[in-house]
Amino acid sequence: MMKVGIIGCGGIGRLHANAYSKVPNTELAALIDFDLERAEKLAAEFGGRAYRSIDDCPEKLDLVSVVTPPSAHYKIVMDLLERRIPVFCEKPITMEIGQAKEIVRKSEETGVPVGIGFKMRYEPCFVKAKELIGEIGKVFAVSAVKNQPYTEDPARQWIKNTGCMYELSVHDYDLIDYIMDTKPVRVRAKLGYDLGWKREDQAYLDVEYENGVIGQLMSSYSTHTAWTGYDIALTFVGEKGYMRVERPDRIVLNTDQGYRTVSVEPIGGMDIFVVQAQKFADTLEAGRAYHPDAADGAVQTILIESANASHLENQTIELC
Ligand SMILES: NC(=O)c1ccc[n+]([C@@H]2O[C@H](COP(=O)([O-])OP(=O)(O)OC[C@H]3O[C@@H](n4cnc5c(N)ncnc54)[C@H](O)[C@@H]3O)[C@@H](O)[C@H]2O)c1
Repeated sequence: MMKVGIIGCGGIGRLHANAYSKVPNTELAALIDFDLERAEKLAAEFGGRAYRSIDDCPEKLDLVSVVTPPSAHYKIVMDLLERRIPVFCEKPITMEIGQAKEIVRKSEETGVPVGIGFKMRYEPCFVKAKELIGEIGKVFAVSAVKNQPYTEDPARQWIKNTGCMYELSVHDYDLIDYIMDTKPVRVRAKLGYDLGWKREDQAYLDVEYENGVIGQLMSSYSTHTAWTGYDIALTFVGEKGYMRVERPDRIVLNTDQGYRTVSVEPIGGMDIFVVQAQKFADTLEAGRAYHPDAADGAVQTILIESANASHLENQTIELC
């Protein structure tokens, strides 16, 4: 039985706590938050003991989920790697390229795994899309359209300093790489700041990928729509036709074989976090390499920071 800790006991920390409480080979041991009341609340609901800091926890932890706001990830992840504790870090890995690369280096050097919370890789419509993409032949273009509601929340003001690329679309960017088994090499971006935040609430990216595919990726927050799970559509265009993936439950294929729709049973909400936690725990237990890992996370930080630079400098940026 692996003893698990969670650092960051807010909205998504609760979903991680619920997940580990349902995974048979894990046991929730430590709920950690500098707001102790939040940690105590989760401990009362899911088990384990509440602490203000990992330094106060006397138990040896076998795995820790990092579920704080993104700006706190780097310091906490590096500390866990120093302690030789496997880490599961929520997306995005960091908001600085140098920090992301340091985590990759430290994980490689110590041999301590870092998994990244790109949970949408486990959603059935994207699992199915990866299976079906061969039907459209060689892909030459992809588009992503993402829109999610934003509701004012005094406890989550950090989103205004994080922006829609890191908070919403980092999932889409990762899915595109995952489904096509490629990564971005070049980006040109225009960002929008209509809501008056420090970081963008809209992002329009033209991306070139290693496999030659051109991507047009759109991301936005809306203050007027409701959360339904129908927040993203990815369209892949290939030599034999196109595949449109409509989260959460439908894929449209229009190819030289004809037009069809494929329905999938969605797994969403809290349950997808259980699937993700089970995969990470099983992979750790088996001593296998887990993906998405720190390097997969770093690719997205590099893309997003390069998109920021592209917007500011009004030029195409080569990814480093
Ligand atoms: N995978 C997903 O679908 C998904 C969805 C939303 C958010 N997220 C990610 O999850 C993470 C957390 O988001 P959230 O919505 O739960 O945020 P939140 O604001 O609801 O909770 C964050 C918690 O972390 C605590 N915290 C902050 N800094 C800390 C530190 N240094 N040490 C200990 N505790 C600290 C805060 O007190 C708070 O309780 C972010 O990285 C976010 O991008 C992932």
